[in-house]
Amino acid sequence: MKKTILSGMRPTGKLHVGHLVGALENWVMLQNEYNNYHLIADYHALTTNPDTAGLYANSLDMVIDWVAAGIDPVKSPIFRQSRMKEHAELHLLFSMLITTARLERNPTLKEQVRDLNLDSLVYGHLGYPVLQSADILLYKGDIVPVGEDQVPHIEITREIARRFNNLYGTVFPEPEPKLTKFARLVGLDGNQKMSKSIGNTIELSDPPEAIQAKMRTAVTDPQKVRRNDPGHPDVCVVFSYHQRFNTAEVSDIRAGCETGALGCVDCKKNCSMKIADVLLPIREKRLGLEAHMGDVEDILADGEKRARIVARHTMDEVHTAMKLG
Ligand code: TRP
Repeated sequence: MKKTILSGMRPTGKLHVGHLVGALENWVMLQNEYNNYHLIADYHALTTNPDTAGLYANSLDMVIDWVAAGIDPVKSPIFRQSRMKEHAELHLLFSMLITTARLERNPTLKEQVRDLNLDSLVYGHLGYPVLQSADILLYKGDIVPVGEDQVPHIEITREIARRFNNLYGTVFPEPEPKLTKFARLVGLDGNQKMSKSIGNTIELSDPPEAIQAKMRTAVTDPQKVRRNDPGHPDVCVVFSYHQRFNTAEVSDIRAGCETGALGCVDCKKNCSMKIADVLLPIREKRLGLEAHMGDVEDILADGEKRARIVARHTMDEVHTAMKLG
């Protein structure tokens, strides 16, 4: 029998090439081998931004990005967390199975508090991994494709599953994280993480001109001041993109940079073109979907319907195991 994958993202805005490389390509690759559920974590988005004005539009936009990148909604349901009350209920039940001390030790929480300059935390933010556990376990996810930063959350998921199974009888699997090979793409500014909140991204919807303009701002080797100066590709953001999007030319580019034969301006132009080539089919598919927003809403409605059957079934098992309801 096929194993189940549960994957999710928060709908915080247009997706960028970091998402493509760090998650989406992996999801697309895995969709034939596994039963996949693709979750739009709109409840989770509220932990860092309570403003709901753009939430639905962002969710639709994320569906467009996912499908444009190759997710097949016929194979794998795509649905919104907030439409499935089972997530809220299971989250509540799970919140009795883990200590606050354990959640306070969550390194991802500490990282977010630091990165987002939060001076106080909402209760739901502390419970973020508990809700994520409900997301995964409602569909009995065996495997969760995530970036490294999410691994602590999967560990918490495993602990909750184990605790539930010990207390009430085995209902849940203990899911495993599945890390992507190329987990992180650095930002244009050289920041370790490409992120919308930092503003150092190339978006999947960016046309070639926008990619070129952004690429001009990309951080290169500070020691390569003039065109013919020898450079150090391993400290250059642009070179790291070549490694990912222009594999055929990587060794030539390294040699050109190191000898000084290749200048940064030309190198950036070339890199922009290669990224634009990769994004072209995605952008075309995006435009097609944007012209048929009704179809996008249908994808969600259908995904919801299919996900709900599974979620309800799991909750029936939970109720029986817990002698509730
Ligand atoms: N926490 C994930 C992130 O920020 C998003 C997410 C929510 C998720 N629920 C999930 C990821 C369930 C995987 C499985 O990227």
